[in-house]
Amino acid sequence: MNVLLLGSGGREHALAWKIAASPLLTKLYASPGNPGIGSVAELVKLDMSDHSAVAAFSREKKIDLVVVGPEGPLVAGIADDLRAWGIRVFGPSKAAARLEGSKGFTKDLCAKFNIPTAAYGRFGDLASAKAYVEKTGAPIVIKADGLAAGKGVTIAMTLEEALAALEACFEGAFGTAGAEVVVEEYLTGEEASFFCLCDGATALPFGTAQDHKRVGDGDTGPNTGGMGAYSPAPVMTAEMTERTMREIIEPTMRGMANLGAPFAGILFAGLMITDSGPKLIEYNTRFGDPECQVLMMRLKDDLLVLLNAAVDGQLAHMSARWSDEAALTVVMAARGYPGTPEKGSVIRGLDEAAGGGAEIFHAGTAINGGALVANGGRVLNVTATGATVGEAQRRAYAAIDHIDWPQGFFRHDIGWRAVEREKAGA
Ligand code: AMP
Ligand code: GLY
Repeated sequence: MNVLLLGSGGREHALAWKIAASPLLTKLYASPGNPGIGSVAELVKLDMSDHSAVAAFSREKKIDLVVVGPEGPLVAGIADDLRAWGIRVFGPSKAAARLEGSKGFTKDLCAKFNIPTAAYGRFGDLASAKAYVEKTGAPIVIKADGLAAGKGVTIAMTLEEALAALEACFEGAFGTAGAEVVVEEYLTGEEASFFCLCDGATALPFGTAQDHKRVGDGDTGPNTGGMGAYSPAPVMTAEMTERTMREIIEPTMRGMANLGAPFAGILFAGLMITDSGPKLIEYNTRFGDPECQVLMMRLKDDLLVLLNAAVDGQLAHMSARWSDEAALTVVMAARGYPGTPEKGSVIRGLDEAAGGGAEIFHAGTAINGGALVANGGRVLNVTATGATVGEAQRRAYAAIDHIDWPQGFFRHDIGWRAVEREKAGA
């Protein structure tokens, strides 16, 4: 098979790495990719917003499957457009990608199909949103409805913060994504990322992970796209997984089919495990980044076979096998992230770092004058496996010790919650 992978982050490097291991693969192309992806794929420059250009390339190179990494093109309808041109695509339709593209859409779906989630209100103007917040009080959560690159959520611990967040949204801090706002109940519990591979009718559980959103050690500082992750998530016991499938995922699959928008692709449920069970925080319609990196390290089966089954509606006949080992990834970011990262600093020592068995996925790198340089906020994902999360953690940090990049930084406590659990259990 010839495969075209769209995207350029650590998630896409992990997908490329796993697709490249498939005996089904003839040739892998990636656009725009990055230098890490370039070690397993031919990099091409396509404008992802120009769907007809992607289609023309796919025809010319006889692409059998297009795999879409990020949410932007999915929400913009790239899967529909490519399919209309007769090209096979892994990724949801525009109508199904509303699960990520509109938080209000997902909340209404939950209400209609009785899916456990935080109580909420949807507002198109400041006055009515303010009135709701003043009535419910803080803590409360304010969310821009649309895609805001992970920045549209405010956890307001006071009424003043909540009102300020509403004003910022309606004043255009998130552009059109904030023209509508979802206000919701503040949930407490432990968070988990839960993935399902979906073919429109069947949802196949596809691994669990825990992410670390805050930039600093001890979960301090501003939110990021994710500073590290590990898999599996200990809180997702067999019982919790079964409840999540029955109470959240299966009603979503039925509900989307009911609305004429069956979901095919990766469904990523952000869950809060509360005292009364799992509640949906939000859906994403793609793999998580950096969660994908740890999932790919643990997946024993051929990813390309599974993606094909999802595209062909054959998941009812499939299973996915996972390594018993834990996997953990530490994000190395460029100074300044999540604000404006410094670009261009030289990174050395990756071969030495990978020597001990770690996989180093590139997230934001470039080649400049023959040297590997930082070219984004999140730059490298240093990933390792181990019999326990603690062992995977030690191996990932041991690999980082070999990386010579003074302008980079990382959290020192990725996996802390699971490691504490392991210690308590030992
Ligand atoms: P998001 O950018 O939508 O992934 O949300 C960012 C983070 O905000 C989530 O990972 C949660 O930690 C937190 N969050 C979102 N909604 C709620 C909620 N209703 N209650 C508590 N925390 C929330
Ligand atoms: N790591 C969270 C996300 O991909 O949205």
